[in-house]
Amino acid sequence: MDPFRVAVIGCGAISGNHFHALEKLKSARLTAVCDIDPEKLKNAAEAQHAKAYDDWRELLADPEIDAVHICTPHCLHRDMAVAALSAGKHVLCEKPMGLNAAEAEAMAEAAAKAEAQLTVCFQNRYNAASRRMKELISSGSLGGFTGGSAFVVWNRTDTAQKYYRADGWRGKWASEGGSALINQAIHTLDLARWLTGDLSVVSGAMLAHRLGDTIETEDTCDLLMQDKAGHRMLFYCTNCGGSNLPVQLHLNFEKGELHLNGSILTIRTAGSTEVEDHSSEVLVGKDYWGSGHGPLIEDFYRRLAMGQPPAITAEDALRTMRLMDEAYQAHATERRRL
Ligand SMILES: NC(=O)c1ccc[n+]([C@@H]2O[C@H](COP(=O)([O-])OP(=O)(O)OC[C@H]3O[C@@H](n4cnc5c(N)ncnc54)[C@H](O)[C@@H]3O)[C@@H](O)[C@H]2O)c1
Repeated sequence: MDPFRVAVIGCGAISGNHFHALEKLKSARLTAVCDIDPEKLKNAAEAQHAKAYDDWRELLADPEIDAVHICTPHCLHRDMAVAALSAGKHVLCEKPMGLNAAEAEAMAEAAAKAEAQLTVCFQNRYNAASRRMKELISSGSLGGFTGGSAFVVWNRTDTAQKYYRADGWRGKWASEGGSALINQAIHTLDLARWLTGDLSVVSGAMLAHRLGDTIETEDTCDLLMQDKAGHRMLFYCTNCGGSNLPVQLHLNFEKGELHLNGSILTIRTAGSTEVEDHSSEVLVGKDYWGSGHGPLIEDFYRRLAMGQPPAITAEDALRTMRLMDEAYQAHATERRRL
């Protein structure tokens, strides 16, 4: 079978992870890139030996493109994905799916109507430790989920002027849709939901602590969530940590517990404690983005070649967006600066 001909739209920070993953694949080949920034476009097109487009709508009219990777600011995901699907192109959209659940619903509806497939880049599901946790939970050996906690303590204060001001779209409700939760901690929110089943938000707060003068969105968020049986999970994320700490996810079950600290997984059951190191070398991008882009992109094209839906379907990703929306909408009144 001929490789899928792929275009990357948005040649900014994350695009390197997509280029690197595509270079390694036989099932897909990068053929075009798109950006409105002339310098980024030129650099990417030259380095990747790809056709250059400065208009994504023109790119979508190219019949020699089978799939697009959307690596642009959040506010552009919905329109680009819906148009790409209706043009018959497969879509691999960077997280978050859109600015909010309503946008994600429009994308899921477009995917349901299209011949083409849509997936969302929740690459942390492909981490070896995440897969191990999923396997242990699915086997039933730990019993049912009884409660847990998650902590995402990262730092965007030291680089705030550069990070939030340079690119313009970050830190604004209209273009980023939030900050600490929708951009940084959404991976952990997705993992928590994927591993424990559907959660809903009981209470929480969106706060602007130290970045309140730089951004209009939240730099810190705390949530109390619960599953359908009422088992609770505490979730805390902040962009005001002293550094980018390893993400911590702790899950209790009837017959044991799982504790993830970065890539180190501790599995406790009656009479046994096992510590597994699932670290893998991060070859491209920032270390806290992990190394999951490669396996996720490879799996997407492997399944497409076999005529199968992606592992992370639009409907699945939409459930994480709905949970995220509950946190933003239900607690809008609690947004405040300290
Ligand atoms: N999966 C992950 O772990 C991960 C990590 C980082 C970023 N991301 C996501 O990737 C996306 C991009 O983030 P980033 O950090 O690379 O941002 P960025 O600002 O570095 O890059 C965005 C690029 O999109 C381009 N762009 C803007 N408008 C465009 C348009 N109309 N047409 C074509 N190109 C356009 C910009 O010029 C820029 O080059 C976001 O959704 C972000 O949340 C995901």
